[in-house]
Amino acid sequence: MEVKIEKIIYPGKSLCRDNGRVIILDEGLPGETAQINIISNKKNYSIGRIEKIVQASPQRTIPRCAHYKVCSPYQYIEYPVQVKIKIDQIKELITHTLKIDLPNLTIRPSENIWGYRNKLHLHILHEKDNYYYAYHLPGDSQKFTHVDNCFLASEQSNRLIDAFLKLIKESKTDFIDEITIRENQTSTQMLLICYGSQKQKPQALCRMVKQFPLSGIVYIHKAARRRELIWGTGEIVEHLNGKTFYYGGESFFQINIPALKLLLADLRISIPFEQVKVLADLYCGVGIFGIMFSKIVEEIMLVESSKENIFFLKKNLKSNHVNNATIFQGKTNSLISEILKKNPGALIIDPPRKGLEAQSLEKIIKSPPDFIIYISCDPATLIRDLKTLLKSYSLQNLFLYDFFAHTPHTETMAILRAK
Ligand SMILES: C[S@@+](CC[C@H](N)C(=O)[O-])C[C@H]1O[C@@H](n2cnc3c(N)ncnc32)[C@H](O)[C@@H]1O
Repeated sequence: MEVKIEKIIYPGKSLCRDNGRVIILDEGLPGETAQINIISNKKNYSIGRIEKIVQASPQRTIPRCAHYKVCSPYQYIEYPVQVKIKIDQIKELITHTLKIDLPNLTIRPSENIWGYRNKLHLHILHEKDNYYYAYHLPGDSQKFTHVDNCFLASEQSNRLIDAFLKLIKESKTDFIDEITIRENQTSTQMLLICYGSQKQKPQALCRMVKQFPLSGIVYIHKAARRRELIWGTGEIVEHLNGKTFYYGGESFFQINIPALKLLLADLRISIPFEQVKVLADLYCGVGIFGIMFSKIVEEIMLVESSKENIFFLKKNLKSNHVNNATIFQGKTNSLISEILKKNPGALIIDPPRKGLEAQSLEKIIKSPPDFIIYISCDPATLIRDLKTLLKSYSLQNLFLYDFFAHTPHTETMAILRAK
C-alpha cells in the first residue's frame, strides 16, 4: 500500500496512517510517500516496513553503513535534521510532561559525525568456513545482521577488526565469538577484549601487536567467567583537560570524547564551584567529573557500584594526585542518606538510562543541596525525574549534546538550583 509519512517518532521510527489507523514504520521522513508492507497488527496500531520510497524528502541522504537500521537508524537523515528531531523531542517532553516554559536550551551538535565512537562491540558468526561480524537485531538476541564496516568508529578500529577476522581464521582461533575494541582519542592506544568458549588462551592474537598500538589483549572465558591477560596491561589511558584517566575493557567510559569536552566546558561555567565546599559525584564511573573539579572544591564524595570502575577510580585518584576524595562503593539508593548528611553543596548525578530511584529523589528534595547537575542519556527518564526535583529546584539551563550522531539517543545536562 502507498502511504504518506507524517512524522518521526522516538526511537528512530516513523508514523503514518491508513484510514486513520496508525502504522509504525522502520524509517521515513515527514512528507515522503512510500510503498509499505504490514508485518504485524497490534491492538491499536500496525507495524509496517518500507519497500520503496516513491517520493523522497530533500532531507534524505545516503546511509554509509549497510547495517545502519540496527544501530544508527538516523543515518539516512541529513545531520542538521537529526539534531532538529532531537531538539523537538526534548521540547515536546518539557512542555507536555513538565508543563513548564522552555528553559534556556543550548544545543551542541557533535563535532565529528563519523568516526566518533571509541568503543566497538561485535559478535562473530561462524558459517561453514566463513567468519562474519554481526550485531543483534534489536529486541531479539537470537537474530543477527552482518556488519562489514562501522563508520561510527575510527578507520584504525575498522582496520583492526578486518585484521582480527583474518587472523582468527588463519590461526583457527574460531572459539572466539565476541570482541570489544576500545581506542583513545589520539588513536595511540587500543585495547582488545575477546570472548570465547574454550579454556585455552588464544596466544596467536599476540601477532596483532605488530600492526596496531595495542596497550593490551584480554581473553574472557565466558563459561568460567575468567579473565586472562594475553598481552600488555589490560587497560587504556585517556588524557582529558590535563587529567589522566585509566580504564579497562569493561569499565564505563564516555564514547564521544570531543562531545564530552564540550559538556565539561559548559559544566565548569554553569556552577560556581568556588562556592561549593563538598561536591558529590553519584554514579561516578572511573571518576571523570569528580576528579575534574577536585582541585576547586574542598572535598569530593564519589559513589559507584561496579567493582571494575572502582578499581580504575582508585588508580585515577592516585595518578591525578587527588587527596580530598572519599569513595562510597555501592548503590546510590542505599548511600544517598549518608551522602546528604555530609551537606554537599552540589550533586552531579549521571545515572544509567533508568534514571534515579524514587526513594533517592524524595530524599534529595527533602534536604536539597544548592546545585544539581543532572547528566542523562535518556531524555524520558530525565524529564520524569525533573518532575520531582522541580518541587525543590528551578531549572536554570538545559544543554543538549549529540554524543551519539546518527542514532536516536541524546545526552542532556540539566542545571538545577535550589529554590
Ligand atoms: C552513565 S554512567 C556515568 C559514569 C561517569 N559519570 C562518567 O561520565 O564517566 C553510570 C555509572 O553508574 C554506575 N551505576 C549503575 N547503577 C548504579 C547504582 N545503582 N549506584 C551507583 N552506581 C551505579 C555504572 O557502573 C556507571 O559507571
